[in-house]
Amino acid sequence: MTNIPINTDRLWASLMDMAKIGATEKGGNCRLTLTDLDKEGRDLFVQWCKDAGCNVTIDAVGNIFARRPGQDPLKAPVMMGSHLDTQPTGGRFDGVLGVLAGLEAIRTLNDHAVKTEAPIEVVCWTNEEGSRYAPAMMGSGVFTGVFELDEIRAKTDLDGLAFGDELERIGYAGQQKPGAHEVGSYFELHIEQGPILEAEERTIGVVTAAQGQRWYEITVIGQESHAGPTPMPIRRDALVTASKIVQEINRIGHHYPPHACATVGQMLVNPNSRNVIPGSVFLTVDFRHPADETLSMMDQALKAFCTRLADQSKTQIDVVDFWYFPPTHFEDRCIEAVREGARVAGFEHMDIVSGAGHDAVYIAGVAPTGMIFVPCENGISHNEIENASPEDCAAGCQVLLHATLAHAVALD
Ligand code: GLV
Ligand code: MN
Ligand code: MN
Repeated sequence: MTNIPINTDRLWASLMDMAKIGATEKGGNCRLTLTDLDKEGRDLFVQWCKDAGCNVTIDAVGNIFARRPGQDPLKAPVMMGSHLDTQPTGGRFDGVLGVLAGLEAIRTLNDHAVKTEAPIEVVCWTNEEGSRYAPAMMGSGVFTGVFELDEIRAKTDLDGLAFGDELERIGYAGQQKPGAHEVGSYFELHIEQGPILEAEERTIGVVTAAQGQRWYEITVIGQESHAGPTPMPIRRDALVTASKIVQEINRIGHHYPPHACATVGQMLVNPNSRNVIPGSVFLTVDFRHPADETLSMMDQALKAFCTRLADQSKTQIDVVDFWYFPPTHFEDRCIEAVREGARVAGFEHMDIVSGAGHDAVYIAGVAPTGMIFVPCENGISHNEIENASPEDCAAGCQVLLHATLAHAVALD
């Protein structure tokens, strides 16, 4: 019963249909959160869920829940899901696979007229990517009480457009109070976004944990001045200081091998004119490590360096702790359900720690949670060339169905 076959072709067709919305020239997707394209993707998903007989509800931060009823309406639903928003140069699978595999699992249960004790739901969380509006995992963060709804609604993008206004504009500011929706347990299927499964020739990653993250926003303030008449010794060049910070962040990442990751992904130079010495620079920092103690050491190293550098460079350096979550261990019973699903379906599998952040990290704080990884080509993600095979996507979906049914209890 827990191994009824999902429909590989139908799952792939849905993935490819969704990928047409916001398709990029290089074969990827740009469906930034709360844009018209995000709305189009959401609308298609909602239509598919309704066609599958689900009851769809939306909460005030735009999370979408589609429910297939169980025999016992008092039981909390077993949830599957992920996100439909993408990076600006994103791929066709990051997040989308977890949502559409959840839908495929429900379609499969319908095909086989399987009744379950608990309801089963597929959820699409709002703004997992954290690109247009930072930080990431906003929908699941508000849902679990990590963020306040008002705080998130007030966030603005680089054009000054507020999250709350954009959410209303696309018609996804729902009535439900975030977090009021019960979760019995939660499973998220995702591409690995790294090279390990492919290198180890395993189809399924049984995700035991996700590494912790610390994000910072740094502003360097120097003095803008003319690029010609200003002698080198008296300059207070914010970009020169910022470049030293970038080098140090990279050094910190290399200093804690093999797991530490350290990235500056965004930099805004002001006034950004070729014959003006930069007066101020804004940059973002993303630190990750599976051990919280190491993450703390990375934090201290960055702050100590910035204090020293500010003195030496005669520039001001403001370091803001922007976002933090500690390493997360998923629930043993959920991990075992995923492992058992891989075993029953006959897929090569291995335990793995997630390098990326996922909505599952926040949901793990309020409900038993597990994650499933499948390989992606050359480990490349957050890139338009991101790719995964139909067979691997289907394998992940099969394991997702197994784990979900094990928790929702199939009746006949
Ligand atoms: C989310 O995509 C992340 O940054 O890990
Ligand atoms: Mn993702
Ligand atoms: Mn992503």
